[in-house]
Parts: sequence; C-alpha cells; structure tokens
Amino acid sequence: MNRDFDAIVVGSGIAGLSFALKIAEKGLTVAILTKKTRVDSNTNYAQGGIACVTSNTDDFESHLQDTLEAGDGLCREEVVREIVRDGPARINELIEQGLKFSQDESGKFDLGREGGHSQRRILHVKDMTGKAIEDALIRAVEKSPRIQMLEHFFVIDLLTSRKLGKCKEELENKVLGLYALDVHSRKVETFRAPVVVLSTGGASQVYLYTTNPDIATGDGVAIAYRAGVAVENMEFIQFHPTTLYSTTGERFLISEAVRGEGAVLRNLKGDTFMKKYHPQADLAPRDVVARAIDAEMKKSGAPHLWLDITGKEESFLKNRFPAIYTRCKQLGINIAKEYIPVVPAAHYACGGVITNIKAETSLKGLYACGEVSSTGLHGANRLASNSLLEAVVMAHRGAKAVQDYLSTTEADKVELPSWIDGGVHDSDEQVVLSHNWDELRRTMWDYVGIVRTTKRLERARTRILNLSREIQDYYWNFTVEPRLLELRNLIQVAELIVECALMRKESRGLHYTLDYPNRSEEKMDTQSRGSSD
Ligand code: SIN
Repeated sequence: MNRDFDAIVVGSGIAGLSFALKIAEKGLTVAILTKKTRVDSNTNYAQGGIACVTSNTDDFESHLQDTLEAGDGLCREEVVREIVRDGPARINELIEQGLKFSQDESGKFDLGREGGHSQRRILHVKDMTGKAIEDALIRAVEKSPRIQMLEHFFVIDLLTSRKLGKCKEELENKVLGLYALDVHSRKVETFRAPVVVLSTGGASQVYLYTTNPDIATGDGVAIAYRAGVAVENMEFIQFHPTTLYSTTGERFLISEAVRGEGAVLRNLKGDTFMKKYHPQADLAPRDVVARAIDAEMKKSGAPHLWLDITGKEESFLKNRFPAIYTRCKQLGINIAKEYIPVVPAAHYACGGVITNIKAETSLKGLYACGEVSSTGLHGANRLASNSLLEAVVMAHRGAKAVQDYLSTTEADKVELPSWIDGGVHDSDEQVVLSHNWDELRRTMWDYVGIVRTTKRLERARTRILNLSREIQDYYWNFTVEPRLLELRNLIQVAELIVECALMRKESRGLHYTLDYPNRSEEKMDTQSRGSSD
C-alpha cells in the first residue's frame, strides 16, 4: 500500500526543515524522512555561522564580490545576487522562530569574520550556530500539524514515470514517489507524492578524514543521479584547513572564526607562513589556506601544524568559542596558553544536483536544497558561512515553486508498485561492507585529495570501479540495510567526483592538479547525468 503526501522532504538539516515548514505553511501535507533521528544532520556541526549583510558598514555588492572571488570564476552571478539580497528577510524569520544570535554589549549583532570575507558579516550563536538553528527549526516543525517526521527511514531510490514505463519523452518524465527502508521493521515502504525535496546534506564521508558526521554519505546526489537527474561540479570538494589533529583519525572542526579573531597558523618550528601564499594571509580563501597547509606539511613531513590563538584572553575564548575551548581542554590543551595541533579534512561538497533559483532540478517534481544541490552560489569554492544562508533562502524560494507546480499539475493517482526483494537473504559476509568502506575512503583520501594528478585520479577510478561492481552484486543478492545503502551511495558519489575531476583539464578553486597547474580561459561546468532507465 502506498503512503500519500503532497510532498516528501528527505533529510532533517536546516535545508530540509526550512523547506518542510515553508511547504506546510502553504497548506500542504509533508513527510520528512530522515535516515537516523531528527537531530542527526550536518547543520548541527556548523560552528561558524550564517553570512548575511546586516551591518550599515556592509553592502550586498561587497558580499557578492567576496562570493565571486572565492568561487574562482564559476559562480552564477545572478544566483549569488539573489541569494545575498534575500538573506536579511530570512534571518528575520529565524529570529521570529526564536533564534538568538550573539550580540555585543550595545545590543548589535556580534558579527564574526571568516576567510575570504572583506567584512565582518557572520551572524553566529557563539560557536554552536548550527545546533541553535536546528533546535529552533525542530521546535517549529514539531508544532506543525501538517508535517510528519519519520525517523529511521532510509530513502533507497526515486520512482519516476519513466522508470515505471509511464512516459516516453524525457520532457514528460516526473517524480511520482520513492522507496524507503523502515530501518526498524526492515521493510521497504512505497511513498507516493508529486513532489520530492532532496536535502540530504553533504558527502564528505567519502574521505577518510572529515569534519562531517557519519550521515554525510552523499545519498541525495546518488539517488538523483540514478534517476537520470543532472549533477555538476562534483570535483570541488572543500577541505577545511583547520581541524583538531588526533591520532585516532577523528576530526573536530576548529572554526575559521578563530582565525577571524586573530589566530595564526604556524609550522612546527613556530614560524608563521601564510603571508608567503596570499596577501590576506591566514584569512585567505579556504582553498588557498588548505593547499598552503598541505604544502607545508609535505615539505617538512610534519603530521600537523599549529594554530595559535594565545594572543587572546582566556575569558574571551571561553565565551566566544565554548565548544572549541572545552573540547581542546578535554584533550589537555588550554587554547589560551598552548597552540592547537591542526590538519585539513574534507568538509563540504560545492557541486551537486543542479538546480535553478527556484530549487527545481532537471526532473519535474524533484527539488534540491542545501549542500546536496548546486545552485551556482559556490562555484569552484564556497565562501565560508554562505551555506546556511543558501539553505534558508532556497527553501523559501523552492516552497513557492512547489506551490506553483502543484497548482498546475494533476497528481498521479496510480498505485505505485511495492518493492520486490527477489527472494534475497541476509548477508553472511558483512566483512565485504566494512572492507569496502575503508578501501573507498582511503583511496579517495590518498588519490583524490587536496592536490591531484591525472595518474592518481586514474588509479582511484580503477579501484572505485571494482568496488562498484562488488557492491552492485551485493545489493542485488542480499537484504538491503543502511550500511549497504550508504556504501552504494558513497561509491556512486566517489565515481562522480573522480569523473568530474578527470574532465577538468585545469586547476581552479578547490580542484588543483599538478598536470594542469593553471586556470584555463574556458569557463566550464563538469556536468553528468545518470541513466533514468
Ligand atoms: C567554520 O566554522 O569554519 C565552518 C563554517 C563553514 O564551513 O561555512
């Protein structure tokens, strides 16, 4: 039996929750499907904040120029302009929802500064902005009678009219619903809805070292691609320059806002080095800083570098960065007195499912919002703290587009087919999953990292192809389970990252290859589209 909604939102971070709230405000019924619990999202880990023009010494043009500069020639300027301009209205809504941004003694926003921004313009809630936004939005969702939050539902694939043989022309193809695994009952359910919104967040778990939580497995990009939807610019993976180094491999984010408050990077001899790499030194755009750290570490063989914020008072640091201060203290580092050991780690996917400024994808009825999408805001390198801004602005615009779409589209009343498992059984070879997870993530880290070469990318492609064959085989022979579904998606995303990286015969933004060290005159997006059959 089908479960019916006007719209299904996949994911419960800032993008998904905002989108669901906006759709529900228009009188539509919404299910939010989340593969873990409602609070498991990347948003919860966002420390820095949300970039927005709010001060009278700042202006839209300056935010636009900083974004274009960071994006290294690949931003879609009209998209940047609209998102930046819509920001203040969406910030006011967050405040109405109960969010309290940090303020200075005079009651004005305490605006933070981050790499690539020419001004202080980051609204924040100390160093826990993402969590504060997530909490406020969840409270609002829980009050909405039209939204059902379905936790532990893992979306496997979309159902489209083409897949079901209901249309011949590509133009008629549209989304009809989806299959989702109820993780607790282990049954796959069929959901029917004329609108599906992908807001599944990022994909940085594809790398061995990442700032992202376990859920960031690129599900939305993989699901869309398998449905024949266009994706782009997947090679632009942003590596955050400063995460806390630990020998266990766990990577805790040390916000760029710490450098915004005066922290400087030092090599293991204690010397600063960023001036050699960029006139903005420690506050250069993120791609430049991450590459500089990589180069310094490779040159000296050091396992990490230092971040020095000892110039600030302990009382200031405790108040401005309580989460970072406490985490470091737990590891025996008093950041007011000692340097912090830092290394880069995979942080953000700048490419993704292509959307227009209304969050519409290339498939009718399918929308994408947040890190999963590629609106054209980030180009080849995202400007710090622009992502939360993009999520709230695009959710607002997307919900309006959903309303328009539904007012002109007849909902398909045909019963969608139930999932057929083909008599598969539980796997007796779980080791295949754990081995392939490790192999994939190490391959990506070693061969598709901050500095690339064609040879390394080709090596990665060969290995990923083998993993892909093995996991496809596993998928068709064994009962579906979350770990398998995540790995299937990660492998799909890894393939796309490598293919896009091989397509780009230049170095630009976050994609740096020793074989083509310069930027080409030609401006290209690396687009790819899965087969919809
Ligand atoms: C940070 O706090 O450095 C991360 C902010 C972001 O990725 O935009």
